[in-house]
Amino acid sequence: MSENGENTRKASEGFTAVDIQSFRTATRDISFDVYLKLSDDNIAHVFSRMTGLDYKRLAQYVFKGVQDLYVRNEDLPAYKAFTAKTAEQIFNDPDTPQDKKIATLLNMTEQNMSELFVQANVPEELAVNTQKVVRNYVNLMIEKPKTLAIILKLVSHGDYLYYHSIAVAIFSMFIAKASGQFNQRLLEIVGLGGFLHDIGYTQIPKELLNSTSSLTPQQWKIIRTHPKVGLRMIEGTPAIPDEVRYIVYQHHEEPSGNGYPNGLHGAIIYYPAKIASLADAFSALISKRPFRPAYSVEQAVGILQTEAGKHDRELVKLLAAMFLRQIDTGSGRKAA
Ligand SMILES: [Fe+2]
Repeated sequence: MSENGENTRKASEGFTAVDIQSFRTATRDISFDVYLKLSDDNIAHVFSRMTGLDYKRLAQYVFKGVQDLYVRNEDLPAYKAFTAKTAEQIFNDPDTPQDKKIATLLNMTEQNMSELFVQANVPEELAVNTQKVVRNYVNLMIEKPKTLAIILKLVSHGDYLYYHSIAVAIFSMFIAKASGQFNQRLLEIVGLGGFLHDIGYTQIPKELLNSTSSLTPQQWKIIRTHPKVGLRMIEGTPAIPDEVRYIVYQHHEEPSGNGYPNGLHGAIIYYPAKIASLADAFSALISKRPFRPAYSVEQAVGILQTEAGKHDRELVKLLAAMFLRQIDTGSGRKAA
C-alpha cells in the first residue's frame, strides 16, 4: 500500500476515529467501510459496505472495551448521514413512513439481543432459540396497529427501556424453562409478559426514570403507578393474552408482601409474575445505569441471593444455577 519512505507513516493516517456507540443506531446498512485499530501500525477492516454491520461482533467489541472505530476520511460525510437520525427521532417523527419505523425497530431488536447475549455469556443454542421467539412476537405485534403503537412507545422512550424489555423477556423465558413448569405456549407468554412488563413507564417522564439523584416520595408515587398504567394500556388488546396482563400488573409484588401495587404475599402472586420480577431485577443489575456502573453477572446473582423476601427463593436458586454454570463453562473455570 505504501511507497518507500512512507513505511513509518501511521496506519491510522487517513482515517478518523468515531465513537463505537454511534453504531447503536437504526440500521445495519452502511455505505462506508469500518475499521478497528489493533495497534499504531495495524488497522483492520471489520465491517464492509457490502455486507453491513454484524451486531454480534459489534457487541463483542463494546464488551471488550473498544471505544472507537475508524472510517476513512473521505467516507466521513457518509458516516455523518448514517448517524444523523437517532432511532428515537425516527420513531417520534410523524413524517417517517411506518415501514421505515418497523425496519428500525427490528434492527434495534437484533442489536439489543446481540449485546445481551454477549454480556450475559449466553450459550449459542439457547440464544438462537430465544432470539427466534422474541423476533416472532415483535413481528406479531407489528401486524396489529394497536400493538404496534404500544411497541413503538416502548422503543421511543429511550434506549434503556427497550433494551431492558428485551432482556427481561429473554431472562424470563430462561428462568421459566429452567423451572420445568412451562410448555412452549406458556414459555412464550412469559416472554411476552417480560417484554411488556414496564410498558407503563412510557407514560412516565423520562427524566424520572433516568434520574441520578434520589427521588422524592411524590416522585416514587408516580413511578409506582407504572404497573397499573401498563395494565390499562394493554387492556382491550385481544392480541395480548390475559396471562400477560397479570405479569404486567404484578411484576413489582414481593413474596414478603412489601411490593406494590397491592402488597400481595408469596403464594398469591402469579407465578410468571414472580419470574418476570426476578428477570427484571437481574437485568437492571447487569445494566449500566446513570447512577451506577453495571454489576457483573456473578455480582448480580450474589445481590439477588441476599435480598431475602424480595424474590421467590426457588427461582433465585434456578437463576444462580443457570448463570453461574454458564460463567463456569464460558471461562473454563471449575464450578465451586
Ligand atoms: Fe417495573
